[in-house]
Amino acid sequence: MAVIEVEGLKKYYGDVRAVDGISFTVLKGHVFSLLGPNGAGKTTTVEILEGLRKRDGGRVRVLGEDPENFSNSVKRKLAIVFQETALFDNLTVMETMRFFQKVYGGNSSVERVLKDLGLWEKRKALVRHLSGGQRRRLALASVLSHDPELIFLDEPTTGLDPAARRKIWEIILDLKRQGKTIFLTTHYMEEAQFLSDVVCIMDRGKIVEMGAPEEIIKRSGLKSVVKATLHGNEITIETDEPERAVKELIEKGAEEINIRKPNLEDVFLHLTGRELRD
Ligand SMILES: Nc1ncnc2c1ncn2[C@@H]1O[C@H](COP(=O)(O)OP(=O)(O)OP(=O)(O)O)[C@@H](O)[C@H]1O
Ligand SMILES: [Mg+2]
Repeated sequence: MAVIEVEGLKKYYGDVRAVDGISFTVLKGHVFSLLGPNGAGKTTTVEILEGLRKRDGGRVRVLGEDPENFSNSVKRKLAIVFQETALFDNLTVMETMRFFQKVYGGNSSVERVLKDLGLWEKRKALVRHLSGGQRRRLALASVLSHDPELIFLDEPTTGLDPAARRKIWEIILDLKRQGKTIFLTTHYMEEAQFLSDVVCIMDRGKIVEMGAPEEIIKRSGLKSVVKATLHGNEITIETDEPERAVKELIEKGAEEINIRKPNLEDVFLHLTGRELRD
């Protein structure tokens, strides 16, 4: 079932074609990621889907409705986590949850949500005493009390250390297991590759590639590179079957074997001639 349908979406700011005729579908229970460099049009796209910006052209349906005219019943099925969700520094974690529960009218157990997100031990801590990763988890927790069906996450792990990032990834996969649909924007290709059912790579307002991460990599035709030292000589092999190449190299007595498989970053570079990150 399609939760989001977008056809020929356009948004221009003067001469800047922020979103330039893009089309995609997001299925229920999927993690769908918009990946692209700074200025690609990710935030513009996601804010149009959330009903926060008006579009200049195209057709958009989110949970069956046009975001420019969302009904209250659809709004209650959405959760939006901004990169910088405003939290009150002088409230405790528990007070923050109660506040947002009143705002969203949710009735899920706050205890369950905090435990799921690893914040139960911090329930009496003031928000201003939380670490960056804990704040980000609280921002996510605060929109889960009304049990949303569709969750928008704009760059959920930007600026976090690897452990905090992993923790957020686990939470996202857990929400997916509960059948929720997650719409993610990120410029971390490892994040998109690890979490997504479908990755949509955007650049300069257009979609340059879309599909399951493995499928995109396969379609690019990029090969794995295996390097090794064989009888004192350094060798490099390009192959579609790196495991087999490694097995053969071991049999021949090769040492210092190193495999590098292509990733989404390589695909982006291959398609656009530019790096994903500035
Ligand atoms: N309100 C606005 N007024 C004018 N131009 C805008 C506005 N919002 C976005 N743009 C322009 O549209 C383009 C896409 O911006 P957008 O914020 O959607 O990119 P992004 O992919 O989210 O980038 P980032 O990774 O840096 O967050 C950029 O060139 C930006 O300068
Ligand atoms: Mg953005």
